Amino acid sequence: MPYTVGYIVGSLARKSINRTLAVALSRLAPPELRLTEIPIGELPLYSRDHDSDYPVVAQEFKDAIKASDALLFVTPEYNRSIPGALKNAIDWATRPYGSNVLNGKPAAVVGASPGPISTALAQQHLKSILSFTDSPVLGQPEAYIQFGEGLFDDEGDIRVPSTAEFLTGYMRAFAAHIRRHHHDIPDL
Ligand code: FNR
Repeated sequence: MPYTVGYIVGSLARKSINRTLAVALSRLAPPELRLTEIPIGELPLYSRDHDSDYPVVAQEFKDAIKASDALLFVTPEYNRSIPGALKNAIDWATRPYGSNVLNGKPAAVVGASPGPISTALAQQHLKSILSFTDSPVLGQPEAYIQFGEGLFDDEGDIRVPSTAEFLTGYMRAFAAHIRRHHHDIPDL
């Protein structure tokens, strides 16, 4: 049975290397995974004042997560943590209290950065947040992708064969993780 995977890009940049990576990962994924982006760029800043009258854009965001069997977070690191836009999106997904759509949702976290430690610290922070939201996160393998000229070809595919092979294995491991966990998603 194919699984629908919503990918969430932590960057709002038009030429985001993380969005390019997300598309490349979609192409490397096994056929049982169907990946589509769940955009976060139109979400206003979360405040609990909205809880009694959730904005349509936020409800649609939550519905897209609910309709997905799993989530793939592809994020840059901002100042050694996740971008504020991504944290804001996660906050919307978990409210109003008692309607956290991340609960039980299998997830994986990857990211690209030009820096030598890539997005390791942002990913650690994100995994800590996803532990609180009770979303089972793929533990291994980890994928810290260092971006440099030549990582992607003109079509946005991974040009370096060893990296493409590693990321193919990563997506296979994610598929196995979803298979293990997709029955845990509660009805809300
Ligand atoms: C960065 N960048 C960055 N890189 C990193 O490896 N660790 C970091 O802590 C930060 N901090 C940071 C803060 C802010 C505000 C910006 C704008 C950038 C650099 C970042 O990795 C680079 O801009 C990537 O290209 C961002 O990914 P996208 O937007 O291209 O997907």
